[in-house]
Amino acid sequence: MEGPRSVKKEELQDLTNLINYVFRTSSNKEPDMHICFPIFISEQNLDNLLVFVDETTQKPVSHMGTWINDFNYFGEPMKVGYLGSVCTHPDFQGQGLASRLLDEVFNHLENNGVDILLVSGGRGLYQRAGCKRVGEVKWHNISKQDTHPKFDVAIDPPVEYLNELWLNEPMRTKRGLANFKTLVEAAALARCVNAKSKVYLAKTGDTPLAYIQGLHTKDGSIMIYEWAGDRSVLIELASYIANTCQNETRWPVPSWEKTLLSLLPSINASVTKTDTLSGTYKIIRFAPFIDKISSYLTELYGAKKLSGFDEENRQVLLYENERIALNPEDMLTMLLSGKLPNNLPPKMQQLFEKALPLPLPWPIGFDYI
Ligand SMILES: CC(C)(COP(=O)(O)OP(=O)(O)OC[C@H]1O[C@@H](n2cnc3c(N)ncnc32)[C@H](O)[C@@H]1OP(=O)(O)O)[C@@H](O)C(=O)NCCC(=O)NCCS
Repeated sequence: MEGPRSVKKEELQDLTNLINYVFRTSSNKEPDMHICFPIFISEQNLDNLLVFVDETTQKPVSHMGTWINDFNYFGEPMKVGYLGSVCTHPDFQGQGLASRLLDEVFNHLENNGVDILLVSGGRGLYQRAGCKRVGEVKWHNISKQDTHPKFDVAIDPPVEYLNELWLNEPMRTKRGLANFKTLVEAAALARCVNAKSKVYLAKTGDTPLAYIQGLHTKDGSIMIYEWAGDRSVLIELASYIANTCQNETRWPVPSWEKTLLSLLPSINASVTKTDTLSGTYKIIRFAPFIDKISSYLTELYGAKKLSGFDEENRQVLLYENERIALNPEDMLTMLLSGKLPNNLPPKMQQLFEKALPLPLPWPIGFDYI
């Protein structure tokens, strides 16, 4: 077995066939994974698609794909890695190939300056390697009610409008107009769950105010999976969408969307369940990650400098004259889920009670892989 290594250009078609076989044709579905993920499974991303190649057939038999994105975290540049299309051909499963690829993925991400990883899955393979379900999402059901929006609604508008709104989001992947167009057209997650993606844009004249991507499922429901723009307009737009919907309109709203969470009751939205974010997360480069969130905490809360470093099997946080050392899983749970340990020193306690859980890259928007 050759690998783990990046896939070669001449092997990309065989890799696409493997991914399509495992995720699609083996369960009688259309082989459309490369259409779902045209930037991720592509020649421009060869370095980030790690494989084992069978020496007899010279074909990839196990794959773990990463997609490395520049991310704007409240003005701080971050690098976010996404992991997806993980598969081993059935003839080669259970030999530890995926587990070995995952180790290599962590090295690869670290060498490429990635701060945090999102995995679109939560199986044991990832959990054993320290990727955890984190954060908090409240699923809202948007009720149908009389609305008189003070804006026009355009469906599937030119991406330029969406891009303009996206640029003003305080947390966002850097897509650029061309990639944004490709991602909207591909609508990966909608295809993967057999739904139809529609984008609703609220605008006045030529000025975009807010947009929502809704996934229309077979039973006539709409799931809101990405949004940007003015939060009070978003609330009205969600209400407008609910009125056009034959079944339920559901919106998973994460804890850091404080404005949305405070306004949702005004349109009689009810919380149907509280869950973690979808998929799993892992901090890849602890010290730089803490450095970046420290800038955000200072700017937002006037916090002093927070710093972090790895020490043997633990991660250490320093704040003023305080220090705490935790194993990486407990650190992840504290920072990304806001579960504070009992022995947290008082100044950290005071800061973390208001600042945690941290806002995070959103896992199920157009960037989903
Ligand atoms: C998941 C998958 C990539 C694992 O690949 P692999 O090379 O067999 O992995 P490893 O040998 O390193 O073992 C890791 C996993 O395979 C399971 N496994 C071990 N022996 C196995 C066997 N003989 N047959 C099937 N699975 C086996 C392990 O229990 C472990 O699964 P877990 O994550 O549920 O704990 C592979 O089973 C696959 O392609 N599955 C279908 C696609 C899929 O579900 N991808 C993951 C999307 S999140």
